[in-house]
Amino acid sequence: MRAVAVFPGKKQVQLIDTEAPRALGEGEVRLRMLEVGVCGTDREIASFQYGTPPEGSEFLVIGHESLAEVIEIGKGVTRVKPKDLVVTMVRRPCPHADCPACRAGRQDFCLTGDFTERGIKGRHGFMTEQIVDHERFMHVVPQALREVGVLTEPLTIAQKGLNELRAINTRLPWSSAGGTRKPKAVVLGAGPVGLLGVMSLIEEGFETYVYSRSKKPNPKAALAESIGAPYISSEECPVESLPERVGNIDVVYEATGASRVSFDVMRVLGTNGVFIFTGVPGRKAPTPVDTDLLMRNLVLKNQVVFGTVNAGFDAYQNSIDALTKFDRRWPEQLRKIITGRHAIDAYAGLLQGAESGIKDVIRIAA
Ligand code: BGC
Ligand code: ZN
Repeated sequence: MRAVAVFPGKKQVQLIDTEAPRALGEGEVRLRMLEVGVCGTDREIASFQYGTPPEGSEFLVIGHESLAEVIEIGKGVTRVKPKDLVVTMVRRPCPHADCPACRAGRQDFCLTGDFTERGIKGRHGFMTEQIVDHERFMHVVPQALREVGVLTEPLTIAQKGLNELRAINTRLPWSSAGGTRKPKAVVLGAGPVGLLGVMSLIEEGFETYVYSRSKKPNPKAALAESIGAPYISSEECPVESLPERVGNIDVVYEATGASRVSFDVMRVLGTNGVFIFTGVPGRKAPTPVDTDLLMRNLVLKNQVVFGTVNAGFDAYQNSIDALTKFDRRWPEQLRKIITGRHAIDAYAGLLQGAESGIKDVIRIAA
């Protein structure tokens, strides 16, 4: 069975031949992997800056954004059946009895740090022909989403963020009461997490703008605008001028992984604004920020800043439901987020070559 594996010790990424997964235990399901998406996290793992092989293994099979087909079910399986399309969750609970998050099935909030993540931390991932996992970590995807189902995992980032945002904004008694004022959101970055965030925020009722580096015209700007989100280039509009363009910025959704521009934009977050971080920047030299200004704004404008990582069971279901809605509302644009489908042999260029397009996907089986 072929698999793409990262060897941190010898700093190599290789297509390896590995054993097919073991016989099925109670509640377990065998999947034939159909498609696996490649993201910035994978590229970091493939440059040996991140990622941990399972204990006792010198390599990590990479891949955490997946779409697969059920080919065999073990005893007692009730949530999936053969031929179902499924997406498998990334993070697994830590073993500690006193971790309330993991014990509550919310390992995305794990308190001990001893969680594992398939394809990232301590557990092999999905860039291989078959996997076995427990049904409790699987979500059925409607057959109608066959072409875009691989976007489920990256979309969970936005969906979890949105769930948190809703919880925070129960503090604004009028936000659920309708009214005529349309809340405004700015999405930083126009990659897959950004564009899926744009769709999520528009669907949630936000007037949504994209703020990104490249000048117009460019394909990502065109895609954002065809969804209904005006694209603003930071080369043409400095951060200070953003409120003039947008109005009171109620939400900033960061999807760039770049800290400098993010903290820069935090200076113009509006009254009662919420700033959502989703990116994980590499460690560079520290950059100065105006702490007095940020702290004054946080207090005098009732602002909230939060970060969000990974996603819980509900966010996966929310993500699948959202994909169904996006597929009705923006069928062409949703498909355009996937800019390349490649054979598994193309792994080296995708993981270690120059970045191009929006979302690249490895097609493992037809
Ligand atoms: C994945 C998350 C994961 C995070 C940190 C992201 O790329 O989408 O599932 O929790 O990396 O490892
Ligand atoms: Zn990812």
